[in-house]
Amino acid sequence: MTTNRTLTIIKPDAFAGNKAGLILAHLEQRGFRLIASRVMRMTPEQAGEFYGVHKGRPFYGELVEFMTSGYCMPMVLECDSAVSALRDAIGATDPVEAAAGTVRRLYAESKGRNAIHASDSDENAARESRFFFAETDLIR
Ligand code: RTP
Ligand code: MG
Repeated sequence: MTTNRTLTIIKPDAFAGNKAGLILAHLEQRGFRLIASRVMRMTPEQAGEFYGVHKGRPFYGELVEFMTSGYCMPMVLECDSAVSALRDAIGATDPVEAAAGTVRRLYAESKGRNAIHASDSDENAARESRFFFAETDLIR
């Protein structure tokens, strides 16, 4: 896993709203290349582990419930400075605070149901990519 890759998830609100294609097109137009993708429904165990860093926070239970409420679409994307570029492209956690033109401003419903996840560091991008994909899925 090199630092020009990051992990994103189209969350269940956006996937159920048929926004996955629009969001991927939005990101491709901004220079991200799709390396790997899958469509899945996370189990409570998977969602709890994926967001384990938030265990104990007041929104953790709601977050796990939301992430398991429907299908989602994990993807590995490639771009220069991928982690920071994708965080910029998705916007702030709460869509009300997200900059104009960001994915969350365009497609998120609320701070909890906010359309998309993006890794917050190169280390987490590598860990999160391995969570969903085999090494052989990521060869180019
Ligand atoms: P993400 O990890 O999904 O990319 O989001 P983030 O970095 O912008 O925000 P983070 O602090 O890591 O929170 C993870 C997800 O938990 C939900 N959340 N709800 N109701 C609330 O106060 C609240 N706070 C966080 C959101 O779905 C957020 O994206
Ligand atoms: Mg986060």
